[in-house]
Order: sequence, then C-alpha cells, then structure tokens
Amino acid sequence: PLRLVVLGNPIAHSKSPAIHRDFASQLGLSVQYERVLAPLQGFDGTVRALRAAGVAGANVTVPFKQAAFELAGQYSEGAQFAEAANTLVFSPEGIYADNTDGGGLCRDLNRQLQAHQLSLADCEVLLLGAGGAASGCIAAFKQHGVQALTILNRTVHKAEALALRANRIGLPATGAGFDTKAIATGLPRVVVNASSASLNGEVPVMDVAWYRDAVLAYDMMYGAETTAFMKHVARVNPALLISDGLGMLVFQAALAFEIWTGRTPDALMTLARMREGLG
Ligand code: ATR
Repeated sequence: PLRLVVLGNPIAHSKSPAIHRDFASQLGLSVQYERVLAPLQGFDGTVRALRAAGVAGANVTVPFKQAAFELAGQYSEGAQFAEAANTLVFSPEGIYADNTDGGGLCRDLNRQLQAHQLSLADCEVLLLGAGGAASGCIAAFKQHGVQALTILNRTVHKAEALALRANRIGLPATGAGFDTKAIATGLPRVVVNASSASLNGEVPVMDVAWYRDAVLAYDMMYGAETTAFMKHVARVNPALLISDGLGMLVFQAALAFEIWTGRTPDALMTLARMREGLG
C-alpha cells in the first residue's frame, strides 16, 4: 500500500484518517493512512524515521506546520507565502511542501457561493484574524481571483503586516482593527473567521454593518455543535448563508490526496458521510 500519515501533537482527535480512507476506498486504491503523535521536540527526526520506514507523504497539523515548511527543499506558492505546510511529499530527491488549507477553503467557498450564482472572483473577502490560519489562505485567495481583501485583527499591526504581504503578491488588501467602521466596497462580501476566538467560545466584536453586505459567513472551525461565531452571525443577519469549516477540512484533504496519488476523490460524497458522523 501507499503509506501516508498525519503528524500532530495532539493527534488523537484527527479526522484525516477517516477522510483519506474514504477517498481510497472510493477509488479502489491501496492506501494505509495512520495518525502519528510526533514529539514536540525534534520534528525533523520524526520525519526522517518515517521516510526511512517507507512513508510516502504526510499531512501536518498543529504545532508542526512551520517546522514542516522548513524541512522542505521545494514548496508551493501557498506554503511559501504562509511559511507553513500541511502536506509533505517524500521522494528520493527530497521533500516537497504544499499548503492545501487555502485551496480547500476556496473550493468550499466557491461551492457555497454557487447558491448566489457567484464565485470568489466576484467578491471581497473580509478575513477575521491574522495568525497562521489566516495567512495560510492568502495565496489561494489571490489564485482564485478575489477582488479585494480586508483583514481585521485584535492586534492591529499584525493585520496591517499581513495585508502588506498580500499586496506584494498582487492582492489588493487592507488591514485594520475590529473597531473599524464597515466600508462598503460595492462587492458581495464573504466573511471568513480565521481567528481562534471560537476555541474559547468568543466572537470578534465588530461593526455589525460588516455583515450587511455579506452573502456568506464562514467559520474555519467545526465541531458537533454550531460555533459561537455562527450563532452570532445568524442573529445579526438571518438572511446570510452560514457555514462551519468541515468542508474546508474535507477539501484540503482531497487536494492532498490528489498530490500524493494523482487521483481525484469525490470529496462531496465524503463530506456528506462526515456530516453523518464518519470518523
Ligand atoms: P491560528 O493558527 O489558529 O491562526 P495563531 O497563529 O495563534 O493561531 O493566531 C490566532 C489568531 O486568532 C490571531 O489572529 C489572534 O489575534 P491576535 O493576533 O490579536 O492574537 C486571534 N484571536 C485569538 N483569540 C482571540 C479573541 N478572543 N478575539 C479575537 N481574536 C482572537
């Protein structure tokens, strides 16, 4: 079998094995995909041992995405922008690093925007947060033709710095704090929550007018229950399409699976199975 792993610490909660096993069984491919709890120190040693044992590729999650990028000799534009990788390919020539989180997010956003006959190329994205989860998506926003990007963050200088870096790759972007009054761009707005506030059940407090021009609000978080952000948005603008991040999880996995196998799984089918409780 093709041997793949997901590396993280902690890792027991990861849904990636269930997703990738579903992809493999759909396509009749022989794939062995396991969770590996990597020690916090010595990530490169863990990777070296896995390569020596014949593992062909890895997904990487918290807290190793930066370390994974640093190991690689070659990388995608998205991994380079974020200086972080969630997908590694091992070959005799070396290590290739990709970051499929952004592509997975954009695929899910475009899928949901279809309900309004829109795509990201018609839209402004309002990104909440300016940490690792946010920067992992910027290159993909550019690749998907996002018209304009506004980044709001609790720590304002981080939003400004990330916006400056987005401008440098050709994506018109501005960064500001959550207290900034909503600015109408005339474009349909997609609000993406990439802050980790939801982890504590908190929601970034901002001018509710930001939600008024919005067509879709998306939380990168997912869980058994509706997130605090989703509940908040539903109160502020009941007409809005609201989504959790489970689709992003499945679509980033599908992109990684394609990189490793060259085959395209039916990710929507797997997403439906995940919603029913697979994994
Ligand atoms: P991740 O990989 O999840 O992005 P991170 O790089 O630590 O983790 O970034 C966390 C993000 O969530 C940051 O944008 C952080 O804001 P600061 O830059 O001001 O720290 C944001 N965040 C965390 N808790 C938050 C809260 N309670 N309210 C608003 N933003 C919050």
